[in-house]
Amino acid sequence: MNNEKIVLITGANSGIGKAAAFKFAKEGCTVIMACRNLEISKEVQSDIKQTTNNDQVDLIKLDVSSFDSIREFCREFKNRYEKLDVLIHNAAYANHGEKYRLSANQIELTFATNVIGPYLMTMLLVDHLKKSEDARILHASSNIVKHYFDPKKDLDVSNLRGERKDDKKFSVYTMYRDSKVALVLLTFKLAEVLQENGIKVNAIQINGAKMSKETLMKFEPGWRMIARIQNLFFPPPEKFAECYFEICMSDHFKTTTGKLINDKNQIMEPTVTKPNYKMQIKQFTGSDLYPAYLENRDNWDKVWNLCRELTQ
Ligand SMILES: NC(=O)c1ccc[n+]([C@@H]2O[C@H](COP(=O)([O-])OP(=O)(O)OC[C@H]3O[C@@H](n4cnc5c(N)ncnc54)[C@H](OP(=O)(O)O)[C@@H]3O)[C@@H](O)[C@H]2O)c1
Repeated sequence: MNNEKIVLITGANSGIGKAAAFKFAKEGCTVIMACRNLEISKEVQSDIKQTTNNDQVDLIKLDVSSFDSIREFCREFKNRYEKLDVLIHNAAYANHGEKYRLSANQIELTFATNVIGPYLMTMLLVDHLKKSEDARILHASSNIVKHYFDPKKDLDVSNLRGERKDDKKFSVYTMYRDSKVALVLLTFKLAEVLQENGIKVNAIQINGAKMSKETLMKFEPGWRMIARIQNLFFPPPEKFAECYFEICMSDHFKTTTGKLINDKNQIMEPTVTKPNYKMQIKQFTGSDLYPAYLENRDNWDKVWNLCRELTQ
């Protein structure tokens, strides 16, 4: 029954996270919005409560790029709730065009927000997830992983601690791409590690959802213009909120773990085939294939070890 489900969504004040908070609340779940800007998020929270007629919509402050904030968040969450059924790592840093930035813990900000923070948060919440009869974790990845169809690509983790912070060639786009690859690798590894606890871990490949004005303003002007054009073709965030709900709540995905799932709710498969023109187009319209690089256990371990090392 949905009204017994406790659902935690990071970055629930904007875009897909906000649409998902509406969807889960509308379906009767208890929703915890984990957001860094309480002022903006309070308005969203009260809007969701009013629109859905569901009072069980909570808001707890979280900056997922900061270990202190994650620890404080998890303490507060555990004080308020006995268990956790659904954990959706939706928040992400993608300020294309920005310079190299370090998090409070001296980790490159894209990786700190999109990979290392979510890993730490999951680890701190495992005991609460174990108390659920049907615990599910979902990672929001992207079709940007398509770049790894190129067999020459390999995850570069040598510039995550400010080693080359003044490198003029630094690009948030590249870091973002690699963080989303790392997130899928982490999904597959975590699914294996948490299997004995009955916790399921999957990732969704998002092809593109309409971005809000606020999100567009985070990009540098050149990137903003590209994103505005893309926005003309992208579906609304509600489309992916429906996917989040299906993957995290339906009987269909009850036993599914360690999978990358597309926007048609299909389980994707790895391939070594170099993508032809048709496959490239399909990456935008909902492919069911992903690069074999993501299936390689050495790559899983590379990300796993990185997460452990950086959170020690
Ligand atoms: N939209 C697309 O085309 C697209 C395509 C592929 C993948 N995705 C993925 O889908 C997910 C949702 O994207 P979206 O389009 O809905 O983006 P969005 O509207 O910009 O939402 C991102 C959310 O993440 C939050 N966030 C960023 N840094 C944070 C931090 N350090 N701590 C806590 N929250 C933080 C933002 O909070 P603030 O409001 O405070 O900044 C915002 O709520 C992301 O993982 C994104 O990478 C999106």
